[in-house]
Amino acid sequence: MTAPAPRPIRGSPAIFGGRPGILRPLHSGDEQSLISFFRSHAPETVRQRYGYQLAEMTAERAAWLVDPDRSSGWALGIFEPGEREDALHAVGRYCLEPGGAAEVAFVVRESKRNLGMATALLRELVRTAAARGIAELWAQVAADNVPMLRVLRRAGFRRVSRGEAGAVMMSRALGARDSRPATSPGSARRSPET
Ligand SMILES: CC(C)(COP(=O)(O)OP(=O)(O)OC[C@H]1O[C@@H](n2cnc3c(N)ncnc32)[C@H](O)[C@@H]1OP(=O)(O)O)[C@@H](O)C(=O)NCCC(=O)NCCS
Repeated sequence: MTAPAPRPIRGSPAIFGGRPGILRPLHSGDEQSLISFFRSHAPETVRQRYGYQLAEMTAERAAWLVDPDRSSGWALGIFEPGEREDALHAVGRYCLEPGGAAEVAFVVRESKRNLGMATALLRELVRTAAARGIAELWAQVAADNVPMLRVLRRAGFRRVSRGEAGAVMMSRALGARDSRPATSPGSARRSPET
C-alpha cells in the first residue's frame, strides 16, 4: 500500500527583519516545531500568551494546536527556512466559540519581535475568518501588554469591556470586505529595513 501523499503546504513568502519567512497554516507534522518553539519561551511570554504558567507543551496538546478541527479554529505560523529544518518564530490562531465569534491569540519568539510578525498573522486571520463567515474576532489582553494592544488597534479592534484580572477585551466585527486577499504578509507595514 502506498503512503498517503503529503498535504500541500500553502505559504506566502515575506521578509521580516531582512530575513525570509514563510507564513502558512500549521498542520500535523509541525508538532515538534511547536514544542521547540514553546521551550524557547521565557516564563513571561508563557504567562502573556496563556494567562497562566503552562509548564510543558505535551505532544497531545501540540497535536491539537497544530491541527485544530476546521470547525473549531485555524492556526498560522511564520517559519524561517533552514538547511535542516525550518524554524518556527510566530504563531497566531483563532478559536471558534458557539455563537459565531472567535478568540484570537498570538505568540512571537522573543528575538523576533517588532518585525511585523503578529501584524502579518492577524491580517491573514482576519481575511480567513471573514471568508469563513465568522462575524467577530476578539481578544482578552493584559492591560499592560502594549505591543498586543497596538497590533489589535491598528487592525481595527476596539476595546469593548474590561476582562478578567486587569485584562481588556478587544473586539472587531468582520464583514465581506475583510475577506479580500491581502497583497503580501508584510506589505502593508513599514519595512524595518528601510
Ligand atoms: C504581542 C506580540 C504577539 C506582538 O508580536 P510582534 O510580532 O512583535 O508584533 P508587531 O511587530 O506586529 O507589532 C508590535 C507593535 O508594538 C510596538 N511596540 C512594541 N513594544 C512597545 C512598547 N513598549 N511601547 C509602544 N509600542 C510598542 C511596535 O513598535 C509595533 O508597532 P509599530 O509597528 O507601529 O512600530 C509579542 O510581543 C508576543 O509574543 N508577546 C508575548 C505573548 C503575548 O503577549 N500574546 C498576546 C496574548 S493574545
